[in-house]
Amino acid sequence: MTGNILITGGAGYIGSHTIIDLTGLTENKLISVDNFDNSTSQTFERVKQIVDYKITNYEVNLTDLEKTKQIFQDNSISAIIHFAAHKAVGESVENPLKYYHNNLQSLINLLHCCKEFEVANFIFSSSCTIYGQPKNIPVTESSPILPAESPYGNTKQIGEEILQDYCKANSNFKAIALRYFNPVGAHMSGLIGELPNGIPNNLVPFITQTAIGLREKITVFGGDYNTRDGSCVRDYIHVSDIAHAHTLALNRLLKNETKQQFEAFNLGTGNGVTVLEAIKAFEKVSGKKLNYKIGPRREGDIEAVYSDSSKANKELGWIPKHNLEDMMASAWKWELKLQENGGIK
Ligand code: UD1
Repeated sequence: MTGNILITGGAGYIGSHTIIDLTGLTENKLISVDNFDNSTSQTFERVKQIVDYKITNYEVNLTDLEKTKQIFQDNSISAIIHFAAHKAVGESVENPLKYYHNNLQSLINLLHCCKEFEVANFIFSSSCTIYGQPKNIPVTESSPILPAESPYGNTKQIGEEILQDYCKANSNFKAIALRYFNPVGAHMSGLIGELPNGIPNNLVPFITQTAIGLREKITVFGGDYNTRDGSCVRDYIHVSDIAHAHTLALNRLLKNETKQQFEAFNLGTGNGVTVLEAIKAFEKVSGKKLNYKIGPRREGDIEAVYSDSSKANKELGWIPKHNLEDMMASAWKWELKLQENGGIK
């Protein structure tokens, strides 16, 4: 199927890795919409260095319906991959309206455009956060969705619900929600990666920033959980593997291979890794001793979660290629490159 693919948040962490993956595997033209709220246009230059692809970007805020419509007027869009969203859990607790307004209004506006411009294919960035602390792990797509712990998490739950309702009302529309576990690492070139805004909340950027000397030490949030070493268990997944799942999901949509109008897939490796194991893996690949200490639990953290990704394995043919050491080595390479360039942040 021809037509352009609209990627929202193309300069972002997962968006940029997905553009790289797509350029090798789709003939469709890619278009990005990114207002650089939490990203930089330099990322597109780096993407060009890696895959020699110059993407057209619209610097538009998706909560502006008229400007969003203009993108659809100017381009024939056959599918949307919607990454653009605010994603800081703590900030969402302090400023919930910012999150509800931005994350939901942008989705609603895109769906208005789908209706008006007859776009039938949609991929949505969802999150394992919708499962909360599951009773049974690993979690499958049919595990219960628990009340959200944060407004950010709630926007992901509501986003999936909006898409399901929109599917019911529009029989020719298909949507795939990809539920990411903990995306980490960077492109193996070291040219693109995560750009945390200020002090990172997430584990891996905190590890690499500590190792490079930007932070004095890292605190392991809790050493008394009921896990094999007392620290929390997560399912870390390489960002390039996450990116590739979007290419596979897009092909599934464009080839009309979906089995239901709305489908959801878990994206994790299926391996639960503790915080201390993640730190050890980092120390091994970087050769650096990390200054860490065990501290109190972080409010809102769950003890353990990891994915049963057999549905994505079977239905999408998605098999993650990168192990924990690849994740840490690439994250470290990216941090070193950032330092070399005086930091893009
Ligand atoms: C967080 C979000 C989740 C979001 C995901 C995106 C929360 C409660 N959840 O997941 O909604 O989808 O990011 O990537 O914020 N840790 C430390 N020390 C640190 C930082 C983290 O020990 O300095 C631990 C945490 O306690 C946790 C693990 O590392 O056990 C991973 O933390 P993080 O990277 O923040 O991800 P999540 O909390 O799993």
